[in-house]
Amino acid sequence: MPASQREPLSSDDRTAAPSLTTEWSRALGLRVPVVNAPMGGVAGGRLAAAVTVAGGLGMIGMGSAGSAAALRGELRHTTPQAGRFGIGLVDWVVAAEPELLDVAIAAAPTLISVSFGTDASWVGRVRDSGIRTATQVYNATDARRAEDAGIDVLVARGAEGGGHGAVEMATLPLLDAVLDAVSVPVLAAGGIGSPASLAAVLAAGASGVWLGTHLAACSESSLSEAGRRALIAADGTDTIVTTAFDVAMGLPWPARFPARVLRNDFTARWAGREDALRTDEQARAALTAAVDADDPRTAPIDAGQGVGMLTAVRSAAQVIDDLCSGAAHLLARTP
Ligand SMILES: Cc1cc2nc3c(=O)[nH]c(=O)nc-3n(C[C@H](O)[C@H](O)[C@H](O)COP(=O)(O)O)c2cc1C
Repeated sequence: MPASQREPLSSDDRTAAPSLTTEWSRALGLRVPVVNAPMGGVAGGRLAAAVTVAGGLGMIGMGSAGSAAALRGELRHTTPQAGRFGIGLVDWVVAAEPELLDVAIAAAPTLISVSFGTDASWVGRVRDSGIRTATQVYNATDARRAEDAGIDVLVARGAEGGGHGAVEMATLPLLDAVLDAVSVPVLAAGGIGSPASLAAVLAAGASGVWLGTHLAACSESSLSEAGRRALIAADGTDTIVTTAFDVAMGLPWPARFPARVLRNDFTARWAGREDALRTDEQARAALTAAVDADDPRTAPIDAGQGVGMLTAVRSAAQVIDDLCSGAAHLLARTP
């Protein structure tokens, strides 16, 4: 989209507490343009409800361990009082259990995202049910393809982001390229976790942010206490992109989508040595034991490069309020 057509930002800039909205967030009835990234095993119904109450759009994430039964369990938190919510699915997990998409549609969320695949057959079904659609994209070609498939909102997910994703472009150049390529609204994702980074992507024309790591560390997330502590302790240089965990766990993630995780003893030993890992039963058993014991020295903790900005476990409302009021103040500043 030409720069002149990018999302006009509304920062009510002359008041003591400026508000932050975009045309897209207003159309969805959100108070702030923040969507919590659907994070498998981390973004359950409790986090989704907290994000929605805080003014954003809460999303339930069904990751590689997602199932129709697990989704039904998380949906128990999405009461009418908790408000609107979205559901995020993984392409190859839905292909293995199509009922997952049926359950998601039947829940009548505001938004359904399916990421990490090229099959767009879900889009028509979801739209025909009156539900908005989203997917994550990594370059302008992906973006055009997704727009042509009828997807309503694209998530420009930069290589800085936590969890699985293509490592192709950094968030800001990707956002520029995607905004130039399509005319549907675009959310920015990857490494965002400060008022400055939120302000930067909104000023660049994003319709909102798709926030992962910074909400993963919130008190309402389903991450273990040990996982939260590891996120808080980590620095921005403490992440690594690897397929080692997926190989060890036998998960069929497409090669295009490695995961950004916290570096730990397991990545020090196995990242880049996946072929050896495939046949090392002992290492794979040790990983399973560490996952069961919730030991972040060996188990995977997904995290983006914005992890270094995390200093404490806080509620989703505190995180969202601080990010949005800080960004609104920055955007209202006269240079
Ligand atoms: C703990 C964690 C789990 C994730 N799980 C999923 C998932 O199940 N489905 C999905 O579409 N994206 C998943 N992602 C990726 C996010 O959708 C998003 O791209 C990323 O969190 C954005 O970058 P950030 O973490 O730096 O904010 C996950 C990310 C994290 C941090």
